[in-house]
Formats: sequence, structure tokens, C-alpha cells
Amino acid sequence: MKKIIVAIDGYSSCGKSTMAKALAQYAGYTYVDTGAMYRAVALYALENGLDEQQTVAALPEIHISFIHAADGQHVCLNGRDVETKIRTLEVGNKASQISPVKAIRQFLVAQQQAMGEAKGIVMDGRDIGTVVFPQAELKLFLTASPEERANRRFKELQEKGENPVYEEVLRDVNDRDYRDTHRAESPLRQAQDAVVVDNTDMTKDEQIAHIRRIFDDYINR
Ligand code: DC
Repeated sequence: MKKIIVAIDGYSSCGKSTMAKALAQYAGYTYVDTGAMYRAVALYALENGLDEQQTVAALPEIHISFIHAADGQHVCLNGRDVETKIRTLEVGNKASQISPVKAIRQFLVAQQQAMGEAKGIVMDGRDIGTVVFPQAELKLFLTASPEERANRRFKELQEKGENPVYEEVLRDVNDRDYRDTHRAESPLRQAQDAVVVDNTDMTKDEQIAHIRRIFDDYINR
């Protein structure tokens, strides 16, 4: 099968990683979760008590890699599997603080570009179709209403045994949207040539079928 680069960008909690993983599996491509890379740098900063500038100075000591585990891909920080550790709210918040820093973005973008050299890759994030791979053959921009994304996040937190308040979850979604779209460095925005997928009213299976169709249409055209 033809090997291309698929860039998937979009707002937080709109199912990017679920869709990217499903598409990578369908196509037999490599999946790269760039959010996990920002989270791994954030974890390093938290564990070592570093602020943004100290994190920049420490970048040469931060080595990020991915391994294939039984339940999918895991991110490693200096050889240690940190997949579970990076998924906390604390690490998410730190990632949101450090991700606007130019030197940190340059450090990670260079690695992401190297991973795409052989093509056959599905990469998801905020700046994949605009900065990392502006030449990607297929760009998808995922979106859903803030209320629906807050609903999904609310249910996820409940399933984790937490006791979320819907209004707080919605506020958090809106705050993250604002930060992601208003930062000076690589803000989240739709690439001009991206296919927009609004999944507010789609089930997970409908979304997967929809994205597979878009991919097949591109590959077979
Ligand atoms: O998608 P996520 O929640 O795992 O992302 C974690 C943080 O990293 C989030 O604040 C957005 C940021 N991020 C980014 O700035 N650029 C990317 N390509 C991916 C994530």
C-alpha cells in the first residue's frame, strides 16, 4: 500500500488519539502521539523541580522514545516506561505550561520530523499539519462542540472513579481551547488543506468508518 503521512490535529478531548490509533492500525502505519512527548518532558521537569528555563537547559539530558507494549504504544523517558505516569492531571497541566516554550517545541518537532521520514505514519497533536508536516498528504482537523467534549471528559473521569463537576470540566475544556489557540508559538489552527471532521454527533464507530473512508479515498484516487 502507498505510504503517506497522515497529520491529525484538533482540540483537546475530541478523540484525536483514539482516531489516530484506529487509523494507524487499519493502514498498518506507525502511530505517534506527540502530546505524550510534551507530557514526558513535563514529567521530567516535575520530577526534577525545573521551571521552564531550567527545562530548556536540561533538554540534552531528555531522551524520549516509544515502545510497543501489549496494550499499545508506550512512551519512555530516558529508557523508563512512563506511559501511566504522564496521564495525570498534574502532568497535563505542566505540559500545557511548557508546550508554548519555543526551544522545547523545536527540540520535539525535530524528533517528530525524523520519525516521519520513512512515511507510513499517523501523527496527532496540535501543530502537525501546520508546522511538523506542512507537506503531509492527508490532514485531518478534528472538532466537536465544547459541551460534547466536556461530556466525554466528564464520563471518562467518572469511569476512573473520580467525582467531577460538569461545569468545572466544561470550564477546563474552554480554558485549554483558549490556551491552545492563543499561544504565540505554533497555536492550534486548522491547516488550509485539512479535512474537517466535526464528530459532535458521531459515535466512535461512525467516526472510525468516516476517517477510514477519507483515507481510502485519498489512497485510491
Ligand atoms: O494532547 P495532550 O493532552 O496529550 O497534550 C498535552 C499538552 O501538550 C497539551 O497542553 C497540548 C500540548 N501539545 C502541543 O502543544 N503540541 C502538540 N503537537 C501536542 C500536544
